[in-house]
Amino acid sequence: MSEKSPKLRAALDGVPAYVPGKPAAAGGPVAFKLSSNENPYPPLPGVMESVLAAAGTFNRYPDMACTGLMNELADRFGVPVSHLATGTGSVGVAQSLLQATSGPGDEVIYAWRSFEAYPIITQISGATSVKVPLDADEKHDLDAMFDAITDRTRMIFVCNPNNPTGTVVRKAELERFLDRVPGDVLVVLDEAYREFNRDEQVPDGIQLYRDRPNVAVLRTFSKAYGLAGLRIGFAVAHEPVAAALRKTAVPFGVSQLAQDAAVASLRAEDALMGRVGALVSERARVSETLTAQGWNVPESQANFVWLRLGERTGDFAAVCEKAGVVVRPFAGEGTRITIGETEANDLFLRTAEAFRKEL
Ligand SMILES: Cc1ncc(COP(=O)(O)O)c(C=O)c1O
Repeated sequence: MSEKSPKLRAALDGVPAYVPGKPAAAGGPVAFKLSSNENPYPPLPGVMESVLAAAGTFNRYPDMACTGLMNELADRFGVPVSHLATGTGSVGVAQSLLQATSGPGDEVIYAWRSFEAYPIITQISGATSVKVPLDADEKHDLDAMFDAITDRTRMIFVCNPNNPTGTVVRKAELERFLDRVPGDVLVVLDEAYREFNRDEQVPDGIQLYRDRPNVAVLRTFSKAYGLAGLRIGFAVAHEPVAAALRKTAVPFGVSQLAQDAAVASLRAEDALMGRVGALVSERARVSETLTAQGWNVPESQANFVWLRLGERTGDFAAVCEKAGVVVRPFAGEGTRITIGETEANDLFLRTAEAFRKEL
């Protein structure tokens, strides 16, 4: 046997591991998982039926072109099928975007802190991350992001609403930014939490992309639609970008279950709106209660809230876990708490109140 081991790409050295939201503790008295921005509701009406029917065809590969879903999405969003690409979650599509645009020597700009997959998938592509700090209000600093553009910049992520802070970029500032970014730099509007937004000044990326060939929009079925476990997301982008995404996607990556569940979910719009509305009300209640307890809570337009706890982040997460709610700490920075079922939110609020009193 050879003493040698396979040579791996140097770009992988030091890639930070993705930290999945901790699962709720098994066997505890109460245990709620508020750590992964998941949807607490069961599948939307019609979804289980479509998934069970698709399960009978496991022996076959899925429809690689996702024809039914593509047609449904094209109708829903008023875009040509040639402007759509699907993937294994929107993170899978984001990885394809990087594969299509960026490699060693190239730069990818994004705000920080933002979605923690950005540094991982950027590093894997071989490109260099350029992290631009959020401003004092936990918002994207688009002027600083513009100033960070160089002739090596290939892609820019704008996460709107931003994970983990829930803050948004509004239309006027985003348009001003997009108007200035060079046409050969792809701007990716990551709208994973779009459905939870209630700020009318936040633009719909799918309107912004229409006359901008260098803008791509990412959407997912994981959050509002509640299909996180089925791994399906999509991009809307002009033809060359969408075609490049289809080239770089993992062949047959999106299962037939996921495709059919996504179609059924799109057809359950009323139920979706009802659930999203309930979560948005809970978000308001959680934010207001925390504020009344004395916390500083940035206005969130997503299905989570953010508390900047600095050095107390770890303690707070441990106290929450002990109380039966698992939250998502970012060491030394803050904690993100997903809006879950009312009972979970209540338990979290009681825990936060007790912790606050001890501060
Ligand atoms: C901002 C953002 N984008 C994309 C994703 C990826 O979601 P998925 O791959 O499940 O579609 C997430 C998930 O947490 C997210 O927070």
